[in-house]
Amino acid sequence: MDWGLKNRLSRIIKPHNNRALMLAVDHGYFLGPTEKLEEPKKVIAPLLKYCDSLMLTRGVQRTSVDATSDTPMVLRVSGGSSIIGDDLSQEDITVSLEEALRLNASAVAMSIFVGSKYEYQTIVNLGKLVNEAEKYGIPVLAVTAVGKELGKDARYLSLACRVAAEQGAHIVKTYYCDNFEKVVESCPVPIIVAGGKKIPERDALQLTYNAIKAGAVGLDMGRNIWQSEHPVAMIKAARSIIHGNSNVEQAYSLYKKLSANDKPNNPNQKKNKSKKPNNPNQKKK
Ligand code: 5RP
Repeated sequence: MDWGLKNRLSRIIKPHNNRALMLAVDHGYFLGPTEKLEEPKKVIAPLLKYCDSLMLTRGVQRTSVDATSDTPMVLRVSGGSSIIGDDLSQEDITVSLEEALRLNASAVAMSIFVGSKYEYQTIVNLGKLVNEAEKYGIPVLAVTAVGKELGKDARYLSLACRVAAEQGAHIVKTYYCDNFEKVVESCPVPIIVAGGKKIPERDALQLTYNAIKAGAVGLDMGRNIWQSEHPVAMIKAARSIIHGNSNVEQAYSLYKKLSANDKPNNPNQKKNKSKKPNNPNQKKK
């Protein structure tokens, strides 16, 4: 493997334990002002020192992250649809590799939509992105997005992860599911698990623990951290599993201890579910 690629990968997956804690804040690229991520700068600042890398868009990186930060950036380079559009799978590459280099990205990320209307387009784009990114030694993280009608089970997620790896993705991000070992076993590159929609903190820590036990190298968690009443306590608790080998009880005790004296995250903020307008024609995610 090229030195630059290897070096960038080692910023994301820590070589001393082969583990990774990524904080995802890229949701606005199709969801707009996602609940509790309305002001990315305020969300990111207190969490930055507890994640190994930050997954985001160029807009959020430029406007909401201190340029003196030494946290590695995983730059989303795909987009093109929104939650109120016709089909979320209709994505293209929207950010060039030159831009990724200007932003000092440690990796670039894009979604593939296996089993969806725009499957072909997104998989071909992944192959092309790998061709270009390898010229510059930049790793590619493939996000396996899932159509609602396909279900997030081991059979489907194994297919999506394997397709991504076969196209040359250096890291694959997917969802946790039952029999997750099967997904890991049949994917020849490291797998990182997305957190998914907000669930109780203990359950999110259980998911983290199960994913690591099943062979994932780490987590790319967003909503279950910054939609928690106590984001810093939550990221520290998740970190204790990923990098400290805590079990779920230990991690949840840490969460409770840290949150006991912490001011809740935006306790009076109105739920802004209305900011994600319903589109009856929307089929994906
Ligand atoms: C959005 C993404 C997110 O980064 C990913 O879903 C992780 O965030 P969360 O833990 O909130 O699911 O790729 O398309």
